[in-house]
Amino acid sequence: MEITGERVLTLEVLRIQGPGKLSGEISVHGAKNSTLPLLAASLLCKSEAVLHNCPLLSDVDTAVRILRTLGCRVRREGHTLTIDSSTLSGDEIPENLMREMRSSIVFLGAVVSRLGKARLSFPGGCELGPRPIDLHLAALRKMGLHIREDHGCLECSVPGRLRGCPISLSFPSVGATENVMLAAVCAEGSTILSNAAREPEICDLADFLNACGGRVSGAGESEIVIQGVESLGGCEHQVIPDRIVAATYLAAAAATGSELTLRHVDCSHLQLVLPVFEEAGCSLRSQGKSLWIQAPERLRPVGNVRTMPYPGFPTDAQAPVMAMACLADGTSLFVENIFESRYKHAGELMRLGARIKVEGRVAVVEGVPALSGAPVQAPDLRGGAALLVAGLGAQGTTLLSGLHHLDRGYEAVEKALASVGADIRRETA
Ligand code: UD1
Repeated sequence: MEITGERVLTLEVLRIQGPGKLSGEISVHGAKNSTLPLLAASLLCKSEAVLHNCPLLSDVDTAVRILRTLGCRVRREGHTLTIDSSTLSGDEIPENLMREMRSSIVFLGAVVSRLGKARLSFPGGCELGPRPIDLHLAALRKMGLHIREDHGCLECSVPGRLRGCPISLSFPSVGATENVMLAAVCAEGSTILSNAAREPEICDLADFLNACGGRVSGAGESEIVIQGVESLGGCEHQVIPDRIVAATYLAAAAATGSELTLRHVDCSHLQLVLPVFEEAGCSLRSQGKSLWIQAPERLRPVGNVRTMPYPGFPTDAQAPVMAMACLADGTSLFVENIFESRYKHAGELMRLGARIKVEGRVAVVEGVPALSGAPVQAPDLRGGAALLVAGLGAQGTTLLSGLHHLDRGYEAVEKALASVGADIRRETA
């Protein structure tokens, strides 16, 4: 057993016996990165909010624990969460919940909007280099929030209502965009947010807020206009599919030379991801919400993958795609432009026989004829996904530990993969 904060983790590993072909269908679950801000948004609703397609993930559990700590009632039936925020009473998010995931910071905008005050500490999450929240805080301060930073704690209060205003982000931060939307939707007057993040999860949040009576326009573009309303009602909402989970399963198919069909995918969210698989020699066909992939026996290199804010190539897909590139006939180049330290998986991939050179933001991956199974450890969420993909494509047994990272973002991943023929099982170490 390993104890982190208040959570007790059973030491589990995934035993992956590779390489084996995958074949069949996998259903892609709802997007973690949408569900978390949507749960924060539900705090603003005066009547019940019903969220369908919420994945069963530890990060979602953490968000539910935050809601309950604040006094909300949350009911789960399968993948549906019903949130009643009429009983909201607390304004403090305990440190252990803030530390568990970085996106707990999106609760700030919603809590101060609803209660006029909030107390919380700096957030935790995957260690991908410095992950400041200066953009969040500067934007909220501009809206009238007083924030006192004291020994790692943030004491926030606003006399009266937050005020809408023009806000320009120096970088299109996803979390800061969400925080501003949540703070502004019930603020006094209009907020014009420039250089906003354009990710599909931002559009999902805007759709939810509007269905609850908010007035948000321009989501998906660089300028979002939010006209403050007095209060929000509730609504029923379907969370969008997880585009990073989809990309991970595509990478698994590619690394194993397999044919796979993904259900519940929105291909319009994968516009710069799918061409990378085609470049590697995979055939893709989409029909409605299904996406079919057939990978060749040997992959071609992927040339040049540069992560960028949406609609660019997503930083979250960099790691699993790198794992696939390890098995290509030739050299692939990766440039990580979003996070400073997002190549921790490279060292673990090298334990499996990958040839990777990392220099700053650049990683050069020289494909090898075969990877060979070994014990490896997930360094973070998407790094864990990369090792999963590599383990499926490697010869022999890979024992993947550090599963608490993987479980933050992939629901029952071993069951999904075993259902399409992978030789994979979870064991207690
Ligand atoms: C979200 C996603 C995460 C994804 C990332 C980039 C969620 C729950 N997480 O994270 O999976 O990898 O977008 O697509 O949705 N930055 C600052 N100051 C700030 C905020 C951000 O300097 O106040 C920097 C960060 O350090 C990073 C970059 O901006 O270098 C992008 O961060 P951001 O878009 O905010 O990512 P998250 O919202 O944390």
